[in-house]
Amino acid sequence: MSDRRAYAAGAAYYDLLSGELVYRAGRAAGVKLLDLQPGDTVLDVGCGTGLNFAHLVDAVGATGRVVGVDRSPDMLRVARRRIARRGWESVSVVQVDATEFTLADLGGRRVDAALSTYAMSVIDDAAAAWARIRAVLKPNGRVCIVDMQEPTGAARVLAPLARLACTMGGSDIDAHPWNLLATAAPAVQTRSLRGGHIQVVAGTVT
Ligand SMILES: C[S@@+](CC[C@H](N)C(=O)[O-])C[C@H]1O[C@@H](n2cnc3c(N)ncnc32)[C@H](O)[C@@H]1O
Repeated sequence: MSDRRAYAAGAAYYDLLSGELVYRAGRAAGVKLLDLQPGDTVLDVGCGTGLNFAHLVDAVGATGRVVGVDRSPDMLRVARRRIARRGWESVSVVQVDATEFTLADLGGRRVDAALSTYAMSVIDDAAAAWARIRAVLKPNGRVCIVDMQEPTGAARVLAPLARLACTMGGSDIDAHPWNLLATAAPAVQTRSLRGGHIQVVAGTVT
């Protein structure tokens, strides 16, 4: 099943099946490394059902903005329900392909920061998505990419399980999309979690 069909069929169950016991740590670490300031506007690329939103709203405060982009109407339906339930007036989502969106899709306002969790390895052309992120980022904007690879060291025994989880989610475990950021930022901060399976890479893009 293509990832497009998988996210259409599974959106209603995504929050239950997404393994938050394992993967929530990556969101928390990513938002922390992003070093958001009150009042910032932050873009969530491939936001899915909005599992990052609570972390981001806390970080940018009442004067900040969170904008999620995702191509899946079904994932965004769940995200919109979450926004309504939580009464977040500062959070909005846009249905658009991450490889094609422009500043106009974000209301013409550049963003201070961008986060992508577990999405860049699903997006077919991550380099194109990276180019779109850079095009809407303010100078010296912060970016954090949180994604997956095979576990390392002693945790390598769990590699088949990690590979299966990624395949089921339509993710390419060998994509290592944080390298796009590492080549564009003069310095990056990194965190390696869950036996190296989760990589958190953040940097300032000049
Ligand atoms: C594994 S989910 C991650 C969702 C969310 N970031 C999270 O951490 O829970 C991957 C998401 O990427 C989205 N996606 C895949 N390809 C995309 C593309 N080309 N443009 C926009 N979104 C895309 C899917 O619709 C899905 O919501």
